[in-house]
Amino acid sequence: MPSTWSPSQQGEFPHTIQPVSPELNDQLKGDFSGERSGFVRVGRDGWLLPERYEQQAVGYYTLPLRPDDVWIQTFPRSGTTWCQEMVWLINNDFDYQTAKSIPLDTRFPFLEFGMLHHPKLHEEVLAQNNFRTEVAEVLKRWRTPGAELAETLPSPRHFKTHLPLPLLPPSLLDTCKVIYVARNPLDVAVSYFHHNRYLAVHGYNGDFEKYWRYFQDDLLVYSPYWEHVKQAWAVRKHPNFLFLFYEDLLKNLPRNIRIIGDFLGKTVNEEQLSKLTNHLQIDNFRNNVPLYPDVEITGLTREEEQGFIRKGKLKENKEFTEELEAEANKWMKENLAGTDLWFPTK
Ligand code: A3P
Repeated sequence: MPSTWSPSQQGEFPHTIQPVSPELNDQLKGDFSGERSGFVRVGRDGWLLPERYEQQAVGYYTLPLRPDDVWIQTFPRSGTTWCQEMVWLINNDFDYQTAKSIPLDTRFPFLEFGMLHHPKLHEEVLAQNNFRTEVAEVLKRWRTPGAELAETLPSPRHFKTHLPLPLLPPSLLDTCKVIYVARNPLDVAVSYFHHNRYLAVHGYNGDFEKYWRYFQDDLLVYSPYWEHVKQAWAVRKHPNFLFLFYEDLLKNLPRNIRIIGDFLGKTVNEEQLSKLTNHLQIDNFRNNVPLYPDVEITGLTREEEQGFIRKGKLKENKEFTEELEAEANKWMKENLAGTDLWFPTK
């Protein structure tokens, strides 16, 4: 489907929001037990989102921007969290003390986090946690629509979003700096599969093969994948837009830290570079960076899954059978045909 968006598009919210068919809704709700109401399709690209998007859509689209806002935009599981910490530290003069004491989700909020959390699931989680006040406070914050939260943040604000460009403010690129991170779709699918099993807000119950079909058929939240990446690729030369690959970050992190520093207008000396590279190594990152408030909440995650920060590797596609991988590679080739988009390999 061709892109319906251009950076100069102005005016009121220009997209239609329609529920998916009742049959599909029931099927998706059966496989993703965290979503209790259902899903909508947005605009001509058909972005698949939880139905709560409808109440929050205008808030995201008309979010008042500040020129010093810094955004990270990605399709889920493309290295967002890793880049958030990197960008926040570069943009805050390597203030490791604050980075350690304030969780990343507070320093660098996830704009549309609220729409992913079904209130019914939260009610259940709260009951499971004996209605503890600190749990209620965290859950309430997570449900708060991003546009409301954004107003309260001190500058410079940092936003994480998985929303595609057409659903974000049309003046975004002309006002703020935006970093987009793309990742090979096969690795994204494997990572997203585990993530959707790990978190109760998604609660995926099926196997990988079924999950891959959802991915390929644009039936996962934030799909279609290709439109997401291609629309970002199309604006990669905008001076306020930086397009990066997760694969490049893995291959040469120091080089990418320098690229981000230059993009943000920050000097990074050798000592800062080496300390940050070390801080961001996956095991250090896992052990030393607080992602969420330090409040114990049961019922939000599935124990047998590995967690938010998993392996951080390329092509760990053990979930793909040989046939499925062949099919996925063909699909990838078809979607890359006629474009100059490519994914770095090892
Ligand atoms: P895997 O599941 O393949 O391991 P996001 O933050 O967008 O959800 O992306 C998550 C992916 O980034 C996960 O991939 C996660 O393990 C990986 N990741 C997180 N921190 C990382 C780090 N410090 N270095 C490399 N990869 C990291």
